[in-house]
Amino acid sequence: MPSGSFVAGIDVGTTKICTIIGCPQTDGRLEVIGVGLNPSAGLKRGIIVDREYAIAAIRSSVEDAQQQAKVEVRDAYVGVTGAHISSVNVTGRTNVSPGPAVSEQDVQRAVQSARDGVPLPQDREIIHEVVREFTVDGEEGVTRPVGMSARRLDVELHAVTGTVSIVENVERCVIDAGVAVARRALEPIATGMAVVTEAERDLGVILIDVGGGTSDVAVFLDGSIAHTSAIPVGGNHTTRDIARLLRVSFDEAEKLKCRYGRALPDGIPEDESVQVQLANGDQSEHVPLKLVAEIIEPRLEETFALVRGNIKRAGTYEQASAGVVLSGGGSKLPETAALASRVLDDLPVRVGSPRGIIGMADAVASPVYATGVGLALLAAREGAGASSEPEGPQTLLQRLTRWWEGLLPRA
Ligand SMILES: Nc1ncnc2c1ncn2[C@@H]1O[C@H](COP(=O)(O)OP(=O)(O)OP(=O)(O)O)[C@@H](O)[C@H]1O
Ligand SMILES: [Mg+2]
Repeated sequence: MPSGSFVAGIDVGTTKICTIIGCPQTDGRLEVIGVGLNPSAGLKRGIIVDREYAIAAIRSSVEDAQQQAKVEVRDAYVGVTGAHISSVNVTGRTNVSPGPAVSEQDVQRAVQSARDGVPLPQDREIIHEVVREFTVDGEEGVTRPVGMSARRLDVELHAVTGTVSIVENVERCVIDAGVAVARRALEPIATGMAVVTEAERDLGVILIDVGGGTSDVAVFLDGSIAHTSAIPVGGNHTTRDIARLLRVSFDEAEKLKCRYGRALPDGIPEDESVQVQLANGDQSEHVPLKLVAEIIEPRLEETFALVRGNIKRAGTYEQASAGVVLSGGGSKLPETAALASRVLDDLPVRVGSPRGIIGMADAVASPVYATGVGLALLAAREGAGASSEPEGPQTLLQRLTRWWEGLLPRA
C-alpha cells in the first residue's frame, strides 16, 4: 500500500476503458502505480448505448488497476468527449469591491459573469472550464489577481459545454461501477496534460487525439487552451472501410489494419500481400498491402481535413507555431504523422506519448494511454488525492487557479 495519497483517472473510450492510478510527486510528476486497460463495451462515439456492458467494462478496468496498485479507488477524474461537445471563449468583468485588494470573491464574481455569457440551451451544461487569463485595470496576462490593487477585474474563460443526458449517462455508469466522479474533464484537455510540452503550449500547438469513434482536438495558444472540439470520425471508420471493401468482419479488418496497415500507399511494393478470412468463412485471395493503405488513406485525409476546417473556423489555425501533436490509438498507424502534415499545410507533426510520469512509465508509454494518464495528471495538479484526508470542498476558483497554475511553465 503506497504511503502517499493517490489519484485516479478513468478514460471511458469507444474502444477501451483505461484506468490510471498514480501518486503525485512534489516535482509535479506522477508515479503511475496501477493501470487497467480493458476493451470497451456499450459505447459508440463517446455515447453509452448499453449501460450493463459499459458498467461491467468500467468495473473490470478499475479492478485491474486497483489490484496492481493495491489501493481502492473511491473517486476518479472521468473523461468526457463526443460530437455533442462544443467550446467557447467568453469574457467576464466585475468592479472590485471596496478594500485594499482583489479578493477571492471578486474573482468568483468575474468568473461567474463570464459563465453567464455562455450560450446554454436547456439540454446543455458547462462540463469543463479553464481560466485563460485575468486583466487587472486594463493590464492583460495576469495569472493570480488575488491581493492585487485594482478597481476592475476582467477574466477570459474557455468553457466547454455538452449535452446533459450524454454526460450524465457516462457518469452514472462510472458510479454504478463503484467509483464516485471527483470531476469530469474534457478528454483532449486531459490528453494535452500528458503529451504536450509547456514550450509547445506557449508557442501555440494543435493536439489531435485520433481515437476509435472520435478525433478530439485541443488548440493551446500563449500557454493556455484556446479551442476544443470533437470530430465524429476515428480509427473505427478506417476499420469499417476495410471491412466493407474487402468483405471481411470488423475484427478481421481491425487485425489487418493494426498488423499491416499504413497511412500512405506510396512505396509499398505491389507484390506484398496477405490472406484474410472473408466474412463468408472462406480464405480470401491474396490482398495487396498497397490496397489496404489505399483504403485507409482517404479516410484519414478526410479526418484531418475536417480537423483543419474546424480549427480554421475557430480562428486558431494560423497561430499554432509549434505544429501538431498526435495521440490516441489511431496515431499508432505508421505514417499517420506524415499524412497529417500533408493535409495540415506541412505543419510539423509528432506523435506524443505520455510524459511527466515515473513508476510504471514503460507500461503506459503509448499514445493509447495518453487520455487516462492526462486525467490522473489533471487530478494530481488540482490536488484531488483520492486517499488523502478530505480537505473540504474546493471552491471553483481554487480548482480553476490550480489548473491555471498547472499550465504555467514550471521553474
Ligand atoms: N497499432 C495500431 N495501428 C493502427 N491503428 C491502431 C493501432 N492500435 C490502435 N489503433 C486504432 O486506434 C483506435 C483506438 O484508439 P483509442 O484507444 O485512442 O480510442 P478510444 O479512446 O477507445 O476511443 P475514443 O477516444 O474515440 O472514445 C482504434 O480505431 C484502433 O484501430
Ligand atoms: Mg480516447
